[in-house]
Parts: sequence; structure tokens; C-alpha cells
Amino acid sequence: MRIQLPYAGIVLLVGPSNSGKSTWLKQLIEDETIRPSEVVSSDDYRKLVGDVEHIDWKGHPPDEADTLYEAYQDISTEAFALMTSLIEARARLNKLTIIDATHLYASDRKTYIELARRLHQPIYALVLDVEQHTLLERDQQRDFPRGGRRVKQQVQVFNREKRSMKREGFDQVHVIANVDEVDLTRQMNNR
Ligand code: CTP
Repeated sequence: MRIQLPYAGIVLLVGPSNSGKSTWLKQLIEDETIRPSEVVSSDDYRKLVGDVEHIDWKGHPPDEADTLYEAYQDISTEAFALMTSLIEARARLNKLTIIDATHLYASDRKTYIELARRLHQPIYALVLDVEQHTLLERDQQRDFPRGGRRVKQQVQVFNREKRSMKREGFDQVHVIANVDEVDLTRQMNNR
């Protein structure tokens, strides 16, 4: 599968936890297809604004876990607000920005579709469609597992929205089962 990224604009990665979004982007940075500054990741921004990337649930009773989750939600809200402002600035400067977050809900995607439209920039979705059993296996190997219940719930949302994503207003939507089969290039000038 051949995909050509636009010269400038917004590229949303879409996929549940463990679908390999960050791993793929790291690989694309290493082979110099994209620059590190072109990637904006929700995990990095949670760390920047709130000192955490993930919730470490281990050993917490349910009431403490609820408090942790609420704090994490507040951090996420601030993280996404900052990210959106950076993405908008980059779009105004005619830069390419690739956003690393799950983007499972239509409302999350709509924010960026509207932003791209308003600034006359293209917007693509690269959708990582990986089998649930692989997502769950990978989760167990992680330092901070997202938890089987959460991953399964994400898969349910993802499967429900997968087809309708094509009609949301993206200029291109690519559904990718295996990133190793993608030949990703980029447009080098602003045609
Ligand atoms: N992983 C893997 N094989 C792949 C891709 C990822 O084993 N082809 C593993 C990674 O090593 C990591 C986990 O799966 O331990 C999650 O990968 P990551 O790229 O971080 O997935 P994301 O989709 O970015 O997950 P999240 O949204 O939770 O950040």
C-alpha cells in the first residue's frame, strides 16, 4: 500500500491502545521519513502538563483508582488544549503535523477536521486496524498496561466508527492492517 503524506496539513493516527501508533512513528522518524517536530503525542503532553503519561493502577483500591482517574482526565483536558494550540500554529505556518492519540470518537476527530478546513489545510486519517487478540497480547507485555477491559471497550468503539470515518470530511482515509506493508512517502512541495 502506497501512501503519500501531504506537504503540509494534519495527519491523524487513529487506533486503539497497542495498535502501534507510537512505534510506527518512531520508526518513521528513525528512517527520516518524518521529523521529530512533526509528531505531536498526547502521552508527551500529559507528561509536560501533568507529570504523568499513564495511570499506574497497580495496588490501588477502587476509590483511590477513581481519584487517580479523575486527575488523569483533568490532565488529559489540559494536554489536548495545549496540543490543539500547537497544531493550529503549525497549520498556520504551513507545516505538517502528525497527531499520535487514539482519536476513537467522532468528536475528537471533528476538532481537527474543522481546524484544517478553517485554515485551508488537507487532513488525512491513518487508521491502524489491528486484531483485538494482538492488542491484548501487546498490552500484557507493556510496562503500564492499559488493562484488558479498557482495550476491549476501545475496540468496540473503533469497530463501530471505522466505516463512518470515511464520510467525516477527511481528504484521505487509509485503513492499515500492517504498517510493514505501507510504503509511506511525502509530497515535497506545496502543490
Ligand atoms: N508493539 C508490538 N508490535 C508492534 C507495535 C507495538 O509489540 N508492531 C508493542 C510496543 O512495543 C508497546 C505496545 O505494543 O509495548 C504499544 O505500542 P505503541 O506503539 O505504544 O501503541 P499505541 O497505539 O501508540 O498505544 P497507546 O495509544 O496506548 O499509546
